[in-house]
Amino acid sequence: MIWSPAGGEPIKAPNEAINVFDFEPVAFQNVPPAHFGYMASGLDDEVTLRANREGFLKLQLRPRRLRDVSKVDTSTEILGTSYDSPIFICPTGGNQFFHPDGEVAVAKAARAGNHLQILSTSANYSVEDVTKARGAPIWFQLYASPRWEVAQALIKKAEGAGCPVLMVTVDRVAGRNQETLFRLTRRDTRDCASCHDRSSFASRVVRRHNYDGIDLSGVTGSGEAANLTWDTIRRMRDVTRMKIMLKGIVTAEDAELAVQNGIDGILVSNHGGRGEDNGRATIDALPEIIAAVNGRLPVLVDGGFRRGTDVIKALAMGAKAVGVGRPYLWGLGAFGEEGVARVLELLRTETRVAMQQCGVRTISELNPNFVRRAT
Ligand SMILES: Cc1cc2nc3c(=O)[nH]c(=O)nc-3n(C[C@H](O)[C@H](O)[C@H](O)COP(=O)(O)O)c2cc1C
Repeated sequence: MIWSPAGGEPIKAPNEAINVFDFEPVAFQNVPPAHFGYMASGLDDEVTLRANREGFLKLQLRPRRLRDVSKVDTSTEILGTSYDSPIFICPTGGNQFFHPDGEVAVAKAARAGNHLQILSTSANYSVEDVTKARGAPIWFQLYASPRWEVAQALIKKAEGAGCPVLMVTVDRVAGRNQETLFRLTRRDTRDCASCHDRSSFASRVVRRHNYDGIDLSGVTGSGEAANLTWDTIRRMRDVTRMKIMLKGIVTAEDAELAVQNGIDGILVSNHGGRGEDNGRATIDALPEIIAAVNGRLPVLVDGGFRRGTDVIKALAMGAKAVGVGRPYLWGLGAFGEEGVARVLELLRTETRVAMQQCGVRTISELNPNFVRRAT
C-alpha cells in the first residue's frame, strides 16, 4: 500500500523531497483514508500493481561513455507537437479527492514544465477550466459510456474545448475488486453519504463537470462500458476530427488491429493495475507492441514509472513518452500545486541525469541496445 521507504520524518515542504516517494506518506496523512485507498488500490492480489514496479528491476541499462553529454535535450514530439519533457500526466478521476484545487492545480504544475496533460472524463473540473489553467491544449480521456449519445456528447465537449486528441480507455469493461480501497474505507470515520450521493449515476457525477448538461438517463456507470467494440471506435472516428488514441492496449494482436482500424496512437497501459489483475507489467508488454506497430504509429506507456531510469528504459525500448499517475497524486495530496510541480521537477531532473549517465544527448539517440534483460 505504501511504497515510500520506511523510516524518517514526513517532509514538511515540497523542496525537502529527495524523490517522488517522499510525497506519499504526507499524502497519506492529509488525505481521508477512503480517498487514499481509491488512489493506492490495485485489484485482487495486486500482482499487476507490484509487477509494474518490479518489471523495471528485470531490466538493466548499458551506458555508453565519452560522448560529451554537457548539453542534453529531453524534448519529444508526439503527433506533431513538441513537449519539453517525455513525461506526461495520466488521466486520473476525481482529483478533488486529494486537494480542493484538483485538476486545475495539476494543470498549473504541468504548465510550468510544459508537460502534456491528459484529462479524465471523471475529472472534477471541466475540460474547459483545465485547458485554461494549462494554457495550452490538453488531451481528453474518454470513458465511453455504454450509451452512445453520452459518449458522443463528451466527444463534442472535448473537441469544443480544443483538445487535439481523444484518448479512449478500453481496459475498463467490468467491475473491480479494489481490496485496498475497501479496507481503507472501513477505517474512514466520516459519513461518506454526506458527500457521495449514490442514488443514481447523474447524482454521483454531480461534481464531475465534464458531464454538465449531458442527459444521463438510463446510464448506471461511467468507467465500465462492457459493450465497447472496434465498431464503437470506428463510430467515434465518424463524429470527430480529433486524433484517436487507445489507452489500455497490452497485446501485439490488439496493436495490429489498432493499426488496421486507423488509430493514431497507442498508450500501453494496464490502468496502473486497476483494470484487471493480469499480472504483467506494462514495461514487459511494451516490446511486443513496439514490434507489432513497427513505427506505424506512436506508442506511449504508463504504469509504475517513478524514476528517471524507469523513463529512459521505456524510451530506449521505443516508447515516445511515459505517463505517471500516482506520483503526481501523492504530490497533490501532500502540497497541492507545489507538490505536483516538485514531483514533475524531480522526474525531469532524474530523467536528464539518467540520459547523461547513459551517454545520450537527445531522446532519439536512445535505442534498444541501451537496455538488456537481467538473467
Ligand atoms: C486514482 C486513479 C484514478 C485513475 N483514473 C483514471 C481515469 O479516470 N481514466 C483512465 O483512463 N485511467 C485512470 N487511471 C489510470 C491512469 O491513467 C494510469 O494508467 C495509471 O495511474 C498509471 O500507473 P501509475 O499510477 O503507476 O503511474 C487512474 C489511476 C489512478 C491511480
